[in-house]
Amino acid sequence: LNASLRVDAATPVALVHRRTFGSFVEHMGRCVYTGIHEPDHPTADADGLRRDVAALVRELGVTTVRYPGGNFVSGYRWEDGVGPKEQRPVRRDLAWHSIETNQFGLNEFMTWCRNLDIEPMMAANLGTRGLQEALDLLEYCNHPGGTHLSDLRASHGHPDPHDIRMWCLGNEMDGPWQIGHLDARSYGRKAAQVARAMKMADRDLELVVCGSSGSAMSTFGQWEATVLEETYDAVDHISLHAYYEEHDGDLASFLGATTDMDHFIDSVVSTADAVGARLRDPKRIQLSFDEWNVWYLSRHQAEAAVQPTDDWRIAPRVIEDRYNVADAVVVGNMLISLLRHSDRVTAASQAQLVNVIAPIMTEPGGPAWRQTVFHPFALTAGSASGHVLRAEVTAPVQETDRYGEVPVVDSVVTSDPDTGRAALFVVNRSTDQPVTLDADLRGLAPTGVARALTLANDDVYAANTMENPDRVTPRDNKSAHLDAGRLSVTLPPVSWTVVDLT
Ligand code: AHR
Repeated sequence: LNASLRVDAATPVALVHRRTFGSFVEHMGRCVYTGIHEPDHPTADADGLRRDVAALVRELGVTTVRYPGGNFVSGYRWEDGVGPKEQRPVRRDLAWHSIETNQFGLNEFMTWCRNLDIEPMMAANLGTRGLQEALDLLEYCNHPGGTHLSDLRASHGHPDPHDIRMWCLGNEMDGPWQIGHLDARSYGRKAAQVARAMKMADRDLELVVCGSSGSAMSTFGQWEATVLEETYDAVDHISLHAYYEEHDGDLASFLGATTDMDHFIDSVVSTADAVGARLRDPKRIQLSFDEWNVWYLSRHQAEAAVQPTDDWRIAPRVIEDRYNVADAVVVGNMLISLLRHSDRVTAASQAQLVNVIAPIMTEPGGPAWRQTVFHPFALTAGSASGHVLRAEVTAPVQETDRYGEVPVVDSVVTSDPDTGRAALFVVNRSTDQPVTLDADLRGLAPTGVARALTLANDDVYAANTMENPDRVTPRDNKSAHLDAGRLSVTLPPVSWTVVDLT
C-alpha cells in the first residue's frame, strides 16, 4: 500500500505539553507495594523505594504522576498514610478488595516524586469524604507552616510544603462502581463547593473535575454538561478516561481505537465550550486525559465476578496484563491522538505505571522489565518537543466492525525551533499490508534522518516476559530516506514508528 502526508509547519496546533507524558500510581494490586516500593528488595534505597524501578521510570520519561487513585481514593483516608509507620492503621480497601497496610503514603510518594523530578497530581476523596477532608489534605500538603496540619507535616519530617499544583476532585464519580457514586447534579454541586473552598486557600491551584469514565457511559455528554454548569467558574480541567482492548480477535477494530479517542476528545471540547457559551464565560476548560491505556477489562470483569469475597490479600496480583505488539501500536497511536489535541488536552496520565496494566513489570525480590507498551511511550516522550504540527494524511482505508472505514496510517509531527529538531510519529494499522509512506516535510526544511525506529513483529501477539524481556523492542528502520525535504519510509503491518529529523 502507498500513503502520503503533508505537514503544515506554518500553523502549529499548540506547544507539546510536559504533562502529556504523565502516568498514574494507584494503591492497587502491586503498583505501590512490590512495584515502586519494596523495602526488602536488593535495590531498595533508605526509603524502601526500588532503584531498578526508578531507573526505568526515568527512562520512560514520565513527567507527572496521578496518585493515590483511581477507585481506591474514594474510600481512602489520607491521614492513615502519614506519621510513624508503626502507628499507621491496616484497613480494608473495598475498591480492589484488598488489605491496605499504609506503609506507603503521601510523604513517601512525594519523596519518590522529588527523586525523579516528577510533578504530583493529587486526588482527593469525594466518595466517602468531601469538603473538610479535602481542605485538611490541602493544608497538610501546601501550607508553609504555623498551622496545625502544616506543623504536623513538619513533625513527620517534611518541613517544606509539597506545593502540589494539580488536584483531582474525586475519581470517576459517574461510575456506579465508584464508592459514593453520585448523579451529575449532586457531584457537580459537591465538586463546586470543594473547588471554591480550595481556591480560597490558593487561587493558583489547578483543579480537575470528573468527566466520564469512558465514552460508552450512558450518561456521557449530559454528565459533562451538568457537572460543568455547576463548576465552570471554579475548575480548570475536566477529566477523560479511556481503555481499549481487542475483543474476540477483532484486530482491525482494536487498531482503529483512536477513532473513538479522537471523537471522545472532540465531543468533550464541544460540550465544555457550549457550557462556557451559555454561561457567557470566556474561560476555556482544558482536558486532562488522566487515565488511558490498553486494558483487557472484560477479562478482569469475568475474573472479579467469581472472586470469593472472603479473600482479602495485601498487594495481590490484579490486572497484570501482558502487552503484545498490537497493544504497543495502539498505545503509540493513543499518544499520537493526545499530541494532536494538544490545543485542549494539556495533561494526560497513562494508567498505570508499574505492574497494574503497566509499561513496567516487577517480580518481588526479582527483576524489573519493560513491556512492549513501554517503548512507544518512552520514545514519544523523548522525541516530542516544541510545536505540535498537524499531519494531513492520505491513506487507504481498512474496514472495521466498530468504526467503519479507518485510514491505515495515522500520524503527528513535532518540531522544535529551539533545537532545529523534528519528529514524525506514525502507525500502520493495516493488519496484513506494509505501507510505503511519502511524507512531504519541506515546510520543516529537514537536513537529515537522525534515527528511524519501528516497533513491529511477524507475530503481532509477541510479548515481553521476565524470562525474555527484550523479545519486542524497536529496531532501526533502514528504509527511511530523506530527499529534498521528502521522507520515504516503509511501515510494516501493525507497526509504530518514530523518525527523528535534524
Ligand atoms: O486504572 C484502573 C482503574 O480504572 C482505576 O482505579 C479507575 O479509576 C478506573 O476505572
